[in-house]
Amino acid sequence: MLYTTEQANKFIEENQDKMIETYRPKYHLTPPVGWMNDPNGFVYFKGEYHLFYQHYPYQSVWGPMHWGHAKSKDLIHWEHLPVALAPEENYEIDGCFSGSAIEKDGKLYLMYTGHYERNGERRETQCLAYSEDGIHFKKYEKNPVIDESHIEGVADIADFRDPKVFEHDNKYYCVVASKTSDERGRILLFQSSDLINWEYVSILLEGEEQEGIMWECPDLFQLDGKDVLIMSPIAMLPEKYAFHNRSSTIAFIGQVDWQKGEFHVENSHEIDSGLDFYAPQTCEDDEGQRIMVAWMQMWDRNMPTNDLKHGWVGSMTLPRKLNVSENRLIQTPILSVEESFVSISNFKNITLNENSDSFYQILPCASSIKLHVEEFNKANVTIKIGSEEEYVEIILNNSDKLMTIDRSQSGYDIVGAESKPLRSRSYELLKDTYVIEIFVDVSTLEVFLDDATTFSLNFYQKQPKLRLEMTSSSDVMIDCLDIKELDESC
Ligand code: FRU
Repeated sequence: MLYTTEQANKFIEENQDKMIETYRPKYHLTPPVGWMNDPNGFVYFKGEYHLFYQHYPYQSVWGPMHWGHAKSKDLIHWEHLPVALAPEENYEIDGCFSGSAIEKDGKLYLMYTGHYERNGERRETQCLAYSEDGIHFKKYEKNPVIDESHIEGVADIADFRDPKVFEHDNKYYCVVASKTSDERGRILLFQSSDLINWEYVSILLEGEEQEGIMWECPDLFQLDGKDVLIMSPIAMLPEKYAFHNRSSTIAFIGQVDWQKGEFHVENSHEIDSGLDFYAPQTCEDDEGQRIMVAWMQMWDRNMPTNDLKHGWVGSMTLPRKLNVSENRLIQTPILSVEESFVSISNFKNITLNENSDSFYQILPCASSIKLHVEEFNKANVTIKIGSEEEYVEIILNNSDKLMTIDRSQSGYDIVGAESKPLRSRSYELLKDTYVIEIFVDVSTLEVFLDDATTFSLNFYQKQPKLRLEMTSSSDVMIDCLDIKELDESC
């Protein structure tokens, strides 16, 4: 089959009303029809955020990749735009794979991977498309702009993808994912003065044996006086509580030596401690904020909205503001997200102990919950989100100093490529006082543990019903609890 953007847009228009919307989030970007994976081309362009994504409109499974497209002023209300790229040309005939966007001379450029995989040959090359209006894109006539001639003796063209383009010191650079011949991740650096003619610079960073068999979706940026390289390793080996998903994400914090094109790592850690988080990408907005968004699913697991034939699969995480503090990447909800919610109930000084009744509150389907747990060191607290029968549990366990998120009782089971089914993840707590912010959106849940980590996951209840329940086996004081609802939601 030959694909075009016109045909994709027509298919979407004709089929979008046929989707089953039971599990569709209200304030997270999802595809109107069909499949979504990685965020692509995340950029602030002419006063609006544009977010593209890996998209196969024709079925709710992965297929020849197109680029879906949406824009937003506040990163919470999204407007769908026409499909930006379809795999039309020979060099990309099996998919327009992941990539990024940059503005140059008022035009929006997309840099992406052309994927070709036929007759035993697999070739991934880097390509360009450009647009005057940020909506309609034209592929560069002389694509690809980076191919095997640039990486002779350095990398294999079969695994060479996901360019992230940026400007540094008045030059354009891009980082591209690849791997070594003995299957370790490797990030390559390229440089250009015009986005069209590229030169290979160096191996920016190479992984250790335990750090995955291939690195995908790199992103390099400066933040708070540090250089940060984020990426998504496949099959990274677990390290205590971290990296238990089959596909992980990692942040390297350090300094780039631009003379040598080398990244000197000072610290590294997993980016999200949940079950569904992959391929994060960042953009910088007009206020200099660095904002990150990721795909909120996991490769090689069943996807309930596909199993149940709802017609669509996939969502983005909530965009998060990034900072670096003590050589760690800190994620916080962005202000426009906070401002889009209105408080519906507010409590002070809730005391819980083994004799007290559980604390209950009904939750709107698009809500946020903020709670401040003082003197956590004395407590074991369980927060349940869902119904009595089908719920996700967030457990603050004082004896083990762990926070655990568990979806084993949430409804439809989600299992995959991990050697043992993975239904919960834990994180080692380092402090005694925490502000916990939880965002619930129909079937998605994100927990922000201040200055520490985030947990992102989906849950699909057979009988959707949302309430918050809190219990504790020992004396604990919840200083304040604020439940908010998205303006104009369900
Ligand atoms: C990451 C990834 C990328 C690739 C894309 C294909 O999730 O495997 O490396 O470009 O998805 O859809």
